[in-house]
Amino acid sequence: SWSMQNVFDEQVRLIHSKVGPGDHVICALSGGVDSAVAATMVHKAIGDRLHCVFVDNGLLRYKERERVMDTFEKHLHLPVTCIDASERMLTRLKGLADPETKRKAIGELFIRVFEEFAGVLEAKIGSKPRFLVQGTLYPDVIESCPPPGTNLKHSHMIKSHHNVGGLPEDLKFELIEPLRWLFKDEVRKIGALMGVPKQFLSRHPFPGPGLAVRILGDVTVGSALEVLRLADEIYTSTIREFGLYDDIWQAFAVFLPVKSVGVQGDQRTHSHVIALRAVCSADGMTADWYPFDGKFLKEVSSRICNKVKSVNRVVYDITSKPPGTIEWE
Ligand code: XMP
Repeated sequence: SWSMQNVFDEQVRLIHSKVGPGDHVICALSGGVDSAVAATMVHKAIGDRLHCVFVDNGLLRYKERERVMDTFEKHLHLPVTCIDASERMLTRLKGLADPETKRKAIGELFIRVFEEFAGVLEAKIGSKPRFLVQGTLYPDVIESCPPPGTNLKHSHMIKSHHNVGGLPEDLKFELIEPLRWLFKDEVRKIGALMGVPKQFLSRHPFPGPGLAVRILGDVTVGSALEVLRLADEIYTSTIREFGLYDDIWQAFAVFLPVKSVGVQGDQRTHSHVIALRAVCSADGMTADWYPFDGKFLKEVSSRICNKVKSVNRVVYDITSKPPGTIEWE
């Protein structure tokens, strides 16, 4: 729309005047809409003095790295360095079962990888980059600085969140936050103006620790990641096929570290259980489970059991938030 084009142009102008001709800017892309739109604005303003990195932490969904890099390159024309840290991450996560311990390890390794990227960049350009781009939205600004008397009981503090933006104090950069005054729907409109495909703009939220919070316990046991990726892809594409994706706030599969008995063909099986989750929500603070009809549930369950080896049972999570959280860990 006209006004969003104005917001975009104004931000590009502001960034252009804030960043001096010799300054460099660094940006960690999460794969989400916000960081991608923020980076694209900065790229418009200062071109190749923006240095973006995308870290594959080994906990991404089916073909996600390829899909996200493709969007950056083909649609946003954004130069991005992709770092594959998956082996390091899985080595680090081996044997860790406690949810908060897992989150902490993932956040720390991300920071180390980012610092290494910044170090290599500094050597290349001959100075430390001065600015860091973050895709902070207006609701994040309010939440991190709540007015007195605000009830934070249901805030995100229930679980420690390690968003890609969550860098430590001593990594001192000046911040560029071009989305600081915008709501999510406005960011989507700007993204659409910049040519980001609709499928990318309307993607459900995805947590920073990725599939690690959707494999209960040790994520490195057996082929849990592989099984979950496949089941989740079948689930999501069936939701799209039934035209339900945009009615749902967030939908995903969860890998349960248990086996149950089943029968497939004439064979008794002893295989894994996949749980499906789908919720409606306004902001993720509270949520209701999504009332799929029987036809959908029957179809998705038979597809998953037929196509994913070592899964013989699918269950649907009928817990709202509260008392459950949206993620299982
Ligand atoms: P919960 O499970 O707390 O999730 O009801 C609420 C929303 O937050 C997302 N979530 C996370 N996002 N890092 C993130 O970046 C995290 O550690 C994390 N944990 C939960 C979750 O996907 C849902 O949208």
